[in-house]
Amino acid sequence: MGKLDGKSAIVTGAGHGIGLATARKLAQEGAGVTIAELNPAYGKEAEKVLRAEGLKVSFVRTDVAQLADIKGAIAYAVKEYGRLDILVNNAQRSVFGRVTDVSEEDWEASITTSLTSVFRACKYAIPHMQRQGGGAIVSVSSIYGLVGGRRRACYNATKAAIVNLTRNMALDYAPDGIRVNCICPGAVDTWQGGQERTVPAEFWKQRAFPEPMTFDERARMHPVGREGRPEEIAQAILWLVDPANSFTTGSAVVVDGGLIAQALL
Ligand SMILES: NC(=O)c1ccc[n+]([C@@H]2O[C@H](COP(=O)([O-])OP(=O)(O)OC[C@H]3O[C@@H](n4cnc5c(N)ncnc54)[C@H](O)[C@@H]3O)[C@@H](O)[C@H]2O)c1
Repeated sequence: MGKLDGKSAIVTGAGHGIGLATARKLAQEGAGVTIAELNPAYGKEAEKVLRAEGLKVSFVRTDVAQLADIKGAIAYAVKEYGRLDILVNNAQRSVFGRVTDVSEEDWEASITTSLTSVFRACKYAIPHMQRQGGGAIVSVSSIYGLVGGRRRACYNATKAAIVNLTRNMALDYAPDGIRVNCICPGAVDTWQGGQERTVPAEFWKQRAFPEPMTFDERARMHPVGREGRPEEIAQAILWLVDPANSFTTGSAVVVDGGLIAQALL
């Protein structure tokens, strides 16, 4: 018996990284999972691999920046799995830079992909949950939704907005039995550079690190001595959507190996 038997979930950006680990974790607990993913290669591969593991998942090509795609993914989940119980807002668009560096176009695109997408997915998913008498929403924010970071104007703004939109929706929809939480991961290893783990200098420059370092050096900055694994974030998301955990709503759960618990000086 899985914790989520008979439930239907949508995970955006579920073709890679934290989203993929979350789709797997929710499906392992019995949910039918709609993989709402932009990149068809990632989406098809995720569907193939997870189905080969005996899991109930479907890839629906989705750009969360497009309202029609969000509505399409929700309609698909409701048709394919007969209902919609869980929404995980995970996809976003990273743009580095200070306010004076970021173009108007990049700012708009960032707000649309990383924040308006959350508003829209919730706006069109919640009525299904209301009809069913409940549901659970988790949005993936970041420690950068709680603390500042250099050269991350768009990221800081959108991730912080997600934290407070979460609180707002938790209050507004508690009477409907809908719980709304967000998760604030620290550094999680979702490296897309293949086997080669030599980090390009540009990576550190974008993030305003004083000088390039290796991933191992960055990992050692965490009190636990390492970065997070996507499965560990997925585990926390599962905890938040688990119906047994019905008293948790409006929370921003930090999963960061102790990173923001420490003062540097
Ligand atoms: N990895 C980290 O260190 C870290 C830390 C804190 C928060 N986060 C947050 O976790 C979430 C996932 O990050 P990740 O590291 O797993 O990313 P990732 O790059 O490994 O995977 C992101 C997935 O989202 C898809 N995607 C991108 N744009 C999309 C769009 N417009 N519509 C639908 N899908 C889209 C990508 O194709 C990819 O499959 C993000 O919201 C990110 O901000 C990540």
